[in-house]
Amino acid sequence: MAKIAILGFGTVGSGVYEVLCRNAAGVSRRAGEPVEVKYILDPKDFSGHPAADLFIKNFDTILEDPEIKVVVETIGGTRFAYPYVKACLESGRSVCTSNKEMVATYGAELLGLAKAHDCAFLFEASVGGGTPIITPMHQCLAANVISEVEGIVNGTTNFIMDAMARQGADFPAVLQRAQELGYAEADPSADIDGDDIRRKLTISANIAFDALLREEDIPAFGIRTVTGADVADFRAHGFTCKLLACAQRTETGVAAYVEPALVAEGEPEAAVPGNYNLISCTGELLGRQSYFGQGAGRYPTAANVVQDCLDLLTGEDGFYTETARPMAVEADAVAHPYYVRTRTAD
Ligand code: HSE
Repeated sequence: MAKIAILGFGTVGSGVYEVLCRNAAGVSRRAGEPVEVKYILDPKDFSGHPAADLFIKNFDTILEDPEIKVVVETIGGTRFAYPYVKACLESGRSVCTSNKEMVATYGAELLGLAKAHDCAFLFEASVGGGTPIITPMHQCLAANVISEVEGIVNGTTNFIMDAMARQGADFPAVLQRAQELGYAEADPSADIDGDDIRRKLTISANIAFDALLREEDIPAFGIRTVTGADVADFRAHGFTCKLLACAQRTETGVAAYVEPALVAEGEPEAAVPGNYNLISCTGELLGRQSYFGQGAGRYPTAANVVQDCLDLLTGEDGFYTETARPMAVEADAVAHPYYVRTRTAD
């Protein structure tokens, strides 16, 4: 019997618990033994929950229990998640997480700690939600030099832009729906203003380019200023507006940005619906390779976390590179055409 702990019982953490219970037979088959959630750490009151006995409030209970070899972190943010994950790795416990803020900021350090303490740190769900991107992209590196990573990596904003374009929907109403569906961050401005995307771009570009980019060096512009009238005008000209993330290798560093962009109808990105993501990487031998799937939502994201958890239980080492190095982010290295809409009297 493998015993695990879940840190944080929000949208993703509760989804992980449900998936492990609901698919217990398949999970045990894949893990080679039954998998039991022994603890769920969350400060809120879950006394009425059917699994009320599992809830704990003291993190040390997990650290003091030698039965716990794998920990799932779904708290989000860095205030609690980072010290808890660090302590788990330092005690030799493997960790998987969906926490992009923590991975974008401390990923290299946490991978180094896992390596030093003979355990593993996996974070597939931190980019692409339910779409496996990190593992296949990392595998591409064996035979390729990746020159570009780009695409749609935020389910909430794609859901909003898609509903505005296809249904003429109103921004606040669609945002509320995205929140109800569990796509949006606790503070949805992280989605709308591009911060969530910038984190995911930092994580993907760091893997693709073996780099140590800093999230704050990447310029990000969100969708707050895109109006229904703009969207209708784009459509009339054969374009769809998508919030894109892009990182390209340059001669001297990396050109990276997050911004709303016009995509010609017929391009793959223009057709990405609802909460879906589409992220592509370009390699010298590979050409362009794309990954498409649900980028947000409780169950798609939980499924990727559970997959990581199973990989850890079956001995996956994760990856770590000692050669990752800081690279300059050149915000202006790529020329961008701009769209300007004006109304004139004549
Ligand atoms: N708020 C994020 C999104 C969740 O909408 O993509 C998944 O990372």
